[in-house]
Amino acid sequence: MSKILVVDDDRNLLELLKIRLESAGYQAVTALKEEEAIEAAKKQFFDLAIVDLQLLSRDGISLMEELHLILPEMPVIILTAYGTIESAVEAIKKGAYSYLTKPFEPRDLLHQIEKALENRRLTSEVKNLRGLLKERYDFDNIVARSGKMQKVLEIIAQIAKTESTVYIEGESGTGKELVAKAIYLASERKNKSFVAINCAALPESLLETKLFGHEKGAFTGAIRSAKGLFTQAHGGTIFLDEIGDMSLPIQAKVLRVLQERKFYPVGSEQLVEVDVRMIVATNKNLEHQVKQGLFREDLFYRIHVIPIHLPPLRERKEDIPLLVEHFLKKFGQQMKKEIKSLTPMAMQKLMLHHWPGNVRELENTIEYAVAMTHQDTIPEDLILQTQPETITDASLKTLKEAKDSYEKTYLIHLLETCGGNVSKASKLAGKYRADFYDLLKKHGLKSEDFKKPQ
Ligand SMILES: Nc1ncnc2c1ncn2[C@@H]1O[C@H](COP(=O)(O)OP(=O)(O)OP(=O)(O)O)[C@@H](O)[C@H]1O
Ligand SMILES: [Mg+2]
Repeated sequence: MSKILVVDDDRNLLELLKIRLESAGYQAVTALKEEEAIEAAKKQFFDLAIVDLQLLSRDGISLMEELHLILPEMPVIILTAYGTIESAVEAIKKGAYSYLTKPFEPRDLLHQIEKALENRRLTSEVKNLRGLLKERYDFDNIVARSGKMQKVLEIIAQIAKTESTVYIEGESGTGKELVAKAIYLASERKNKSFVAINCAALPESLLETKLFGHEKGAFTGAIRSAKGLFTQAHGGTIFLDEIGDMSLPIQAKVLRVLQERKFYPVGSEQLVEVDVRMIVATNKNLEHQVKQGLFREDLFYRIHVIPIHLPPLRERKEDIPLLVEHFLKKFGQQMKKEIKSLTPMAMQKLMLHHWPGNVRELENTIEYAVAMTHQDTIPEDLILQTQPETITDASLKTLKEAKDSYEKTYLIHLLETCGGNVSKASKLAGKYRADFYDLLKKHGLKSEDFKKPQ
């Protein structure tokens, strides 16, 4: 039986609609207030919604948009008063299926509902999403539907061709490296080299020789001189990932490259000149690091020329359906499986998740589901098996307790997904192994407990 959500602030009309829908064989859930509607959509699945355009505290269009963040493919029929055609048209543009002008014939309403449900059944979700895919965005492999990400793409398009240093900040897994590469590929330097290094992955002395190269005999074991990454990137672009983890002495050398385009290789007295464009990324708050004396203020201002902030996935859930399609295609091809879509419930689950690991976590979730599924439509139980805690549970705790308990749930889910493989799990979490072990210890978790029997 199809389930319909009806939102209207007119109690009588709401009752009447409920009776009519039920006698036509539908299950109807009514909401007088916007919040009730949102709550209902978070807890249960709806095949369709009927929303009054003129609600008390807010207009029906914004409510519809919010409902679509939870149930992106649910058709919405808008009810409008006579003479508000313009807003009805606006509603259609923003994703409503159709509208009805009050007062309306019950027959018309039932007809519209049937059409919407039938349409929903026929248009497979994949096709539906393909339509969305056609929307404007210029960078092939960056999925961006939300306004926030569209803005990011606009900035990238504008600044790619300049020589300015780009500063990308964002939580782990938000796509910093992807954006850095996109900037390089759209730049005048795209035919020259792109050299990337993660400043957090190497101990200080190794990072220095990697970046600047060394002279023969500069240290034990330096049997011949070697060129550094800055030299290799000459004429091209260098990407310094996790720049916040760079030690102060190395920061001084990088500053000099930015100011004078010159540096000394380790153990050498010969200045080397380079022409490189720098793109840096950080998931730490560098302003904070500056205040604590961990990051040079002058370097901060030198690199903070074109800042790009990548919003966490939970702040741009509109991107989820498109990202899902993108990853279904990617892993479907890789694993030679023809996966069409997710069930609506599975999609709803994704829309309600908090995504602490951002796009990388979503990518991982889809990879797992594609690997495990035997059907061409991914069922709900292959998605995020560890339920995130609901807000109601969390509201009884302090923020720290809530965060800790969430962290633990997340780690368990991750370890389960990776079968107790710590290097894989730490990579997916965007953490170094050592830090990841610390986290496990903090929560009393043992990776061995998650190993699957061979
Ligand atoms: N908008 C997007 N469209 C498509 N794929 C994306 C998008 N954002 C991120 N990804 C994918 O998610 C994964 C993580 O992205 P990336 O490595 O760029 O994140 P990051 O911010 O550098 O993470 P970390 O801080 O952990 O290094 C990659 O596989 C990337 O291709
Ligand atoms: Mg990265």
